Amino acid sequence: MEVIKIKILAIETSHDDTSVSLYENKKIIKEYTISQTKFHKNFGGTIPEYASRHHAQTIIKILNNFKNKYDLNDIDHIAFTRKPGLIGSLHVGRIFAKALGYALNKKVFPINHIHGHIFASAFNHNIIYPAIALIVSGGHTQIWHLDSHYPKDIKLLGGTKDDAIGEVFDKVARKLKLGFPGGPFIDGKAKKGEKIIDFSIKNDKTYDFSFSGFKTKVINYINSLEQKKEEIHIQNICASFQNHIFSPLIIKTKRAIKEYNPKSLILGGGVSANSELRKKISKLHPNTLIPEIKYTTDNASMIAITSHLQNGDYDI
Ligand code: KG4
Ligand code: ZN
Repeated sequence: MEVIKIKILAIETSHDDTSVSLYENKKIIKEYTISQTKFHKNFGGTIPEYASRHHAQTIIKILNNFKNKYDLNDIDHIAFTRKPGLIGSLHVGRIFAKALGYALNKKVFPINHIHGHIFASAFNHNIIYPAIALIVSGGHTQIWHLDSHYPKDIKLLGGTKDDAIGEVFDKVARKLKLGFPGGPFIDGKAKKGEKIIDFSIKNDKTYDFSFSGFKTKVINYINSLEQKKEEIHIQNICASFQNHIFSPLIIKTKRAIKEYNPKSLILGGGVSANSELRKKISKLHPNTLIPEIKYTTDNASMIAITSHLQNGDYDI
């Protein structure tokens, strides 16, 4: 579908990145993203109370920056991430979006964060429907079916039953003392390792994902090496970890393609930055849409393009 020209200011504060983006017609005029990773990495995970305080302090600085450089009176509307995410963090984004909308006399639209990850691919691709989307992030592992970009046509086929895939990357990286967030570290180490350890995962017939047994298997393996004081070959562990963790994604996405015969396959979410996963997924469908690396992890630009697709045709 052809999208009409529009200028949007978007706000994303669902987790630990404060991000604001000024968007016009599939192009980003400016995006500021300030990450709290430096603080949270000391704890191996996000501290919700700190996250919302940090968003509140940071967002005002970012918005002042925008105000000084751009005339915000000429935007068409404001978009913000409504859910899912950390309640306090989401609340900060919502309040700032509403207050700004009131001050500038602009409409304010709530956007679903997962829809943002799905449509991050729309910057560099035209999505043809029906589509299947695989979303892999720190909070979610999900397969979606889309008949269009409107919320009523976006249906969940299956999702996270326990640990989300990104969480497993982060927890195993923490155990190996690689750093936080763990995904990029494991991705890097895996390239130099051999896939020789059996961390295989049993699959069921649903579209749901369970990674907690797999996580325990990998952590127990490292614990047993520690107890026996044997060498921990980090690169081989990472290569074997990646060799198995993606198999439920591949098997279930293949099954969804067979069942629904989609015209596009979309990948999105922080874990879609993974080099091995990008290669594996692109082999599953002739029209596989993968976001640019900068739009894989949380960012306000994906919220802006989603709002363009979902709210771009209202009467201004
Ligand atoms: O989408 P995102 O920024 O936040 C959520 O909405 O959860 O995803 C963050 C997750 C983290 O768990 C991080 O380790 C993972 O994305 N990640 C990766 C890579 N880059 C980021 N996982 C695997 N390989 C990567 N290269
Ligand atoms: Zn996300």
